[in-house]
Amino acid sequence: MKIAMIGAGYVGLVSGACFSEFGVDVVCVDKDENKIKQLNSCVCPIYEPGLENLITSNVNSKRLVFTTDLSLAMKDADAVFIAVGTPSRRGDGHADLSFVYKAAEEVAANLQDYTVIVTKSTVPVGTGREVKRIIMDQKPGAEFDIASNPEFLREGAAISDFMRPDRVVIGTENKRAADVLSELYRPLNLLETPIVKTTLETAELIKYAANSFLATKVTFINEFATLCEKLDADIQDLAKGIGLNGRIGSKFLHAGPGYGGSCFPKDTLALAKTAQEAGAPTKIVETVVDINNHRKVEMVDKVSRACGGSVEDKTIAVLGLTFKPNTDDMRDSPSLVIIPELQKSGAKIKAFDPQGMREAKKFLQNVVFCRGPYEAMDGAHAVVIITEWNAFRALDLVRVKSLLKTPILVDLRNIYNLSEMEKAGFIYYSIGRRELRIGS
Ligand code: UGA
Repeated sequence: MKIAMIGAGYVGLVSGACFSEFGVDVVCVDKDENKIKQLNSCVCPIYEPGLENLITSNVNSKRLVFTTDLSLAMKDADAVFIAVGTPSRRGDGHADLSFVYKAAEEVAANLQDYTVIVTKSTVPVGTGREVKRIIMDQKPGAEFDIASNPEFLREGAAISDFMRPDRVVIGTENKRAADVLSELYRPLNLLETPIVKTTLETAELIKYAANSFLATKVTFINEFATLCEKLDADIQDLAKGIGLNGRIGSKFLHAGPGYGGSCFPKDTLALAKTAQEAGAPTKIVETVVDINNHRKVEMVDKVSRACGGSVEDKTIAVLGLTFKPNTDDMRDSPSLVIIPELQKSGAKIKAFDPQGMREAKKFLQNVVFCRGPYEAMDGAHAVVIITEWNAFRALDLVRVKSLLKTPILVDLRNIYNLSEMEKAGFIYYSIGRRELRIGS
């Protein structure tokens, strides 16, 4: 089988590389000539564990090709995947579909024999139908079907999510299109992966519902973390205590500084807009968006309290800048709110992130970027862990204490134990747990 993948961004690259690993001939198209050049020399423009190796082996075996030429990519393709960006439109939170519709026009211009046109980008309900209309208008009589095949890849674990998914969702009203997609995913039959076949609209909505539900779950546990702090309860035990109930499940119950990334913030907002316009507002999701926005700012109070009530003229070492570990993605990262707020309160910031520094430099000003965690902590008054990279999980606490001016550690991901921090003599503030204050 042969497919064309439009868009060599995160989704297009991971999906393209993984389909080629399944044995499909994949041609990835992007307008960015530099990116295509880089990719053809097997240099991956984003950090995603395992992706560069996968690209290299499939480029070498000639199953994966990168080009700027859509007509070449679409020649003899059984399916064309649209995997271009759908950023939040400035001002109203709606998903910006201009790239999707532009891609649809270009697909129409290059359409020859029967092809299944698949939206892989996260698109609001109704987009698939609009893509169909664009193509029919532009090329009446063309032989094609439309399908929606949303992705559920987590950054940092995208390859295993693609290779061993919980499920595959295929939305189309046409059996021929469903058969082409089922054939593409055939290698997953061995793992008995469930395939949910449904309508175009339902498939589009499943993606938003899944992300909104997960964002809600994270926000639920974050609110309970604050409640635990007020009631002297412990969020770790609470999460375990509820998570062991099979109907609740233990995943996505890690309290933290608020969710970020390229998906949850954008998708919850877009869903809320769609639902309002449909006359069926999703009040829960709207509230989740508000709570999560406030949460990031609330983290600044915690740091301030740990520092004795003010961070003015204090140097704060920040460990972890990306929205989660194993990515270089800074989009909507809590650090982008927390650091400027700390600066506004008069703090000086030294920071380190294992992969995110290049990106972070584009968004953060007046930060001293360091080469490692210990360099960041040297001479600082306090250290704040924003992202739970493995590199921060086993810091040499004796060394940390000797480097800091005051032994203050604010752990926004609960990666340390209260007892070990108590033993090590830290003033330790974490999330939803007892605070270790001076002399406590
Ligand atoms: C998310 C979904 O998990 C994927 O299934 C989906 O395909 C993807 O969005 C997308 O729409 O493309 P991702 O944004 O990579 O994936 O990251 P997650 O691992 O889901 O984490 C999202 C945010 O929630 C992060 O800021 C993370 O730190 C936070 N989080 C997650 C918590 O604070 N606590 C948790 O228990 C879990």
